Order: sequence, then structure tokens, then C-alpha cells
Amino acid sequence: MPTLRTFALTLLTTPTLEARLIAPPRGLPDDGPGPPLRLAEPARPANLMPVHVRRSRVPALSAWGNPALRVRILHALANHELQAVELYAWALLAFPDAPSELRADLLSVLVDEQRHTRMYVARVEAHGRAFGDFPVTDYFWAKAPSITTPLQFLCAMALTWENANLDHTTETAAAARAGGDEASAAVIDKVHADEVRHVAIGWKWLARLKPDGMTMWDAWQANVAWPLRPALARGRRFHAAGRVAAGMDPAFIAALEAADNDLDVRGAGLEALRARRGSGDDAVSTS
Ligand SMILES: [Fe+2]
Ligand SMILES: [Fe+2]
Repeated sequence: MPTLRTFALTLLTTPTLEARLIAPPRGLPDDGPGPPLRLAEPARPANLMPVHVRRSRVPALSAWGNPALRVRILHALANHELQAVELYAWALLAFPDAPSELRADLLSVLVDEQRHTRMYVARVEAHGRAFGDFPVTDYFWAKAPSITTPLQFLCAMALTWENANLDHTTETAAAARAGGDEASAAVIDKVHADEVRHVAIGWKWLARLKPDGMTMWDAWQANVAWPLRPALARGRRFHAAGRVAAGMDPAFIAALEAADNDLDVRGAGLEALRARRGSGDDAVSTS
């Protein structure tokens, strides 16, 4: 009988896409979660081995009307979801001592991320291409070594990247519709709805695990490491509705909306920011 640990381990160490997309059996026991295991990288098939971000440029959302360019955006979105599958599996192996309810939450999100990956892969295939036809990055994996607690994981994954995805999915669905691609827009809408739940899970655990007397904002900030910062937890345009739906409090939402949006990876602004901070690669958004 597989366990949560063996399921996550098989998912990450089998070098096929299919192994990542097999849903866990119902009632998977969490017996023998084992010692902490912090995998440095997943085993991937050759056509999904990550490359440097500079070799995997993704067209701007305004290109959605052009199917030959749009498919590269869909491919990048599939890769984001694949990394989410892998990172939730990584967390199950890295944090065997986390509360069982938290580990069950991690698994439930992993299952959603598998579904998201399948949906975007199907959209890539609907455009006559296969997942793996274009270079992919390992942006999320690159941040894993700095994550040392379950709360840090949720503050990075759920409350930074998935939080930002509430905006990115809103913008991307609109771009898909503007580009005449209703089928992709419907997929992105589904991802957005699930992302609200994923952010809500991060919010729930931050509230439970933070020190008494510390604000949610301060506790979040205390649990993310540069370059993760409020600017990476939102899109260029901020949409409060998803955060309200995720149960975030008004003070947190207002602070996030007011956060400096310095995420212009193509501009000189980021170079100046890097120089000031002195380190760190930064996010590359597909939107
Ligand atoms: Fe997802
Ligand atoms: Fe998610």
C-alpha cells in the first residue's frame, strides 16, 4: 500500500510526465512519513529539463491572438503548474513532522495542480504542439533550498506565488478572451477559482502558526526570503476580489495593494533594485 511519502517520492523521482500526473489513491495513509528529505531537483524527462530563464522567453499576453505565439504562453503555464505539483510533493517529503491536517492540505492542493497541468497540456496539444516542445524554467525549484519550514513553504508558495496568480489568471483569462481563445480562457478561470482555495490554505496556516500578537503581514514577511517580497505576490494590476474570497483581512489586502509593484523584468528598474539589494535572481512572469 503506498503512503503519502512513497507517493511523493515516486512522483519526484520517476523521470516521466505521466508519473507526475497520476492522482493519489483515495485515503492514502500518512504512515511512516520518514526523515526529512529535501530533494535538490526532480527527475525529469529530457524534453522537460529546465534551462536558464534567458533561454525560455515567453511572448507577452498581447500575443494571444496569434496561435503560434499563444501556444508558448500555454506551454509556460503548464510548466508553472508542473512545478507546483512537484513543489507540493517536495514539501511532503521535506516536512514529515508537519501537522497531519497541513500535510493533507498539501496533498489536496497537489491534486489540483495535477489537474491544472493536465488542462494546460491539453490546451498546448489543441494547438498541435506537445508539452516539452519549448524550453522550460525551474524558477520555483530554484527557491526551494531557502525554504526550511512548512510555514515558509506556504508563505512562498501560497501567499506569494499563488497570491500573485490571482492577478495573473485574471489578466491572462482576459487576454485569452480578447484573443478569441475562449477554450483557454475557461481553463484559466478554473485555475483561478482553485487558486483562491490554495491562497486560503496558506492564510489559514499563517494564522495558526504565527506568533501571538504578530500581524499577518509581519508574520508573512518574516517567513519569506529575498527576492520574495510583496511585489511578487501581486500582478501589475491588483484585483482585490480574489483576496477577499480567500479570506484575507482588509488590512493585509490594503497593504498588498499599496505595495511597490517593482516587477518589471524587462526594464531598468529591476537592475537598479538588484544592484541596491546586491543579490538574487528575480521572477519571470508569463504575464
Ligand atoms: Fe495551479
Ligand atoms: Fe495553486
